[in-house]
Amino acid sequence: MRPETPTPKDGAAWITGASSGIGKATALRLAGEGWTVFASARSGDKLIDVAREADGLDGEILPMPADVTSQDDVRAAVDRIESNHGGIALAILNAGTFTMDSVNQFDADSFKRQIDVNYLGVINCLQPLLPHLLQRRRGHIAIMASVAGYSGLPLSMGYCATKAALINLSESLFLECRPYNVKVQVINPGFVRTELTDRNRFPMPFLMELDAAADALVAGLKRPRFEIAFPRFFAFMLKRLRAMPYWLYFALVARATGVNKRAKRRER
Ligand SMILES: NC(=O)c1ccc[n+]([C@@H]2O[C@H](COP(=O)([O-])OP(=O)(O)OC[C@H]3O[C@@H](n4cnc5c(N)ncnc54)[C@H](OP(=O)(O)O)[C@@H]3O)[C@@H](O)[C@H]2O)c1
Repeated sequence: MRPETPTPKDGAAWITGASSGIGKATALRLAGEGWTVFASARSGDKLIDVAREADGLDGEILPMPADVTSQDDVRAAVDRIESNHGGIALAILNAGTFTMDSVNQFDADSFKRQIDVNYLGVINCLQPLLPHLLQRRRGHIAIMASVAGYSGLPLSMGYCATKAALINLSESLFLECRPYNVKVQVINPGFVRTELTDRNRFPMPFLMELDAAADALVAGLKRPRFEIAFPRFFAFMLKRLRAMPYWLYFALVARATGVNKRAKRRER
């Protein structure tokens, strides 16, 4: 049994984290394909600008400000979209944040913040959303995780853990939603040039431009495959690493990330 992929005639698309980066680029792509896209984020002013950028496209972007850490905000957003445009046919739960964590500056608040936005933010969205899709026996949920969720990496302990949790959650959802004709996918990008990665001070191999990332994401949404991973070669390599024995995994990742050299530099 393979759930159908909804199209713009089945209802609206809802994207969280659509005020910038991957979410914004995806919203514009989908509006270009005729979708009515409800765009959520905390910055209402930025969402208005995104909506303006969609002027002249086949579809439209409608700002729907909401903080994914607030259950009330998210429920209100889902209720408003559900009473419009035939409900939500496609939900891309993309809002996320990244903070560099390290053993030298270990900060529980940073972990809590990333769990609140990246993981619990998705859970907050799913609670009001799922009953509508299950009841209609139609819909599509795509959850933004990351290749950083495949296995533990240095300097991103909090982030990797949230993305690993999202991959695991998506696997469970896939199995439970399939009998209801609700399609579930997980999105695992490598590095994409956005405001989130502009702050990084470590090497970002296979860094992808935003347009290419949005193209890969939107193409993946139309495919039946559970995972949308890009760039493909980078994701493939990281998956091979994950399957290796730990001694080899640690040796290769330490070398690639320079984590040992970094620790030695700090000691000097
Ligand atoms: N860029 C990459 O290399 C990369 C790789 C793998 C996965 N990802 C994932 O892709 C997603 C988008 O990241 P990006 O690179 O496009 O970063 P970005 O440009 O910083 O976008 C993040 C988006 O999330 C929104 N957001 C943050 N906190 C929120 C909250 N509490 N409630 C609602 N919206 C919130 C932001 O809007 P406001 O600040 O206005 O709320 C913004 O629209 C994230 O989940 C990220 O982990 C990115």
